Amino acid sequence: MTVSLEQLSRCQVAVDLGASRTRVFVKGMGLVVDEPSVAAVNVQTGSLIAVGTLAEQMTGRTPGYIRVARPVSGGTVVDIDMARRMLGQLLGDKLRRRLRRTPMLRAAACTPHESDPLAQRATIETLVGLGARRVELVDTLVAAAVGCGLPVEQPTATMIMVCGAATTQIAVLSLGSIVTAERVPVAGEAIDRAIVQHLRQHHELLLPNQSVRPLQLALSGDGLSPGGPEFTEIHGRDVATGLARSVRVDTAAVREAIHTPLTAVLDGIGRVLRGCPPDLVADLSDRGIMMVGGSALLPGLEEMVRNATKMPVHVAERPDVCSVLGLGAMIEGNIKPMTLAPLGS
Ligand SMILES: Nc1ncnc2c1ncn2[C@@H]1O[C@H](COP(=O)(O)OP(=O)(O)OP(=O)(O)O)[C@@H](O)[C@H]1O
Ligand SMILES: [Mg+2]
Repeated sequence: MTVSLEQLSRCQVAVDLGASRTRVFVKGMGLVVDEPSVAAVNVQTGSLIAVGTLAEQMTGRTPGYIRVARPVSGGTVVDIDMARRMLGQLLGDKLRRRLRRTPMLRAAACTPHESDPLAQRATIETLVGLGARRVELVDTLVAAAVGCGLPVEQPTATMIMVCGAATTQIAVLSLGSIVTAERVPVAGEAIDRAIVQHLRQHHELLLPNQSVRPLQLALSGDGLSPGGPEFTEIHGRDVATGLARSVRVDTAAVREAIHTPLTAVLDGIGRVLRGCPPDLVADLSDRGIMMVGGSALLPGLEEMVRNATKMPVHVAERPDVCSVLGLGAMIEGNIKPMTLAPLGS
């Protein structure tokens, strides 16, 4: 399955269904949806109660008859019907009607690197359910590289690292194609889990997932490297008594806990570099690695990758939306001609 830029320029809508967030770009309108991939459902009637940010806020706070669903998991659509309904609601009535009225609606969608045919089919089915007659799939790595302005079409190597919620994808690209790539099932969610687990094991404190971000920020200072504040005050719930409690957390120990999942990411970078022809590695030592995806904002991650690879590391300007903006640029026909790597081969 090879998708050409010409086919992409005939699409009216570009969609990135991520494990954490859903993003939609509409031709001529730009980014119209950037919301959590979450839907709250009434289990008795089956009706949707809320989607996106509102549904995410309900997580862990709902009565028994409301279920908070995440139809995208591990970077792939796991519940096609729920994903379609969530996407429809996120688009809103006006836009949904407008797209439905478009004759021969074509959609473009990102798909994780080396996603299996079943996962690709699930993405296609979701968009077909919304009225798309044709769906073009583009490798997330290529879309993200275009979105952050890397000169992918040139005969020089560029390296990109897409740090999402469920997966981290790393690739070296040249002439619009992927030379070597790796997909590691460790990203933002695994880092959050490591922090929650650490607090539970070492401080008998239950931390709601929403409170992980403030802790990450408190860790910043010098980020994952030593030098930041030694202790941070964290509020949570005591595992045994169930009562609210605050503890002084040793930031060095939390950094250590985060380090464990991140080792898998660093190993992935090593494998990509080892699989890359020597001429291209020489290009890379000048250009370095471009980090995109929401988790690229994790305080200190950039420095950690820089220390591990001894290469220049940059974080894209709007790292979280690079993939959908890249796909958007392709459907708008705003990029120079290049060959796109075949998908699913
Ligand atoms: N400022 C920040 N600091 C640390 N982590 C962040 C920040 N902003 C977002 N994240 C993390 O980034 C992840 C979301 O990134 P992104 O939006 O790229 O994921 P996604 O595209 O939905 O997931 P995937 O590509 O894996 O399917 C979440 O795990 C979130 O915790
Ligand atoms: Mg993503």
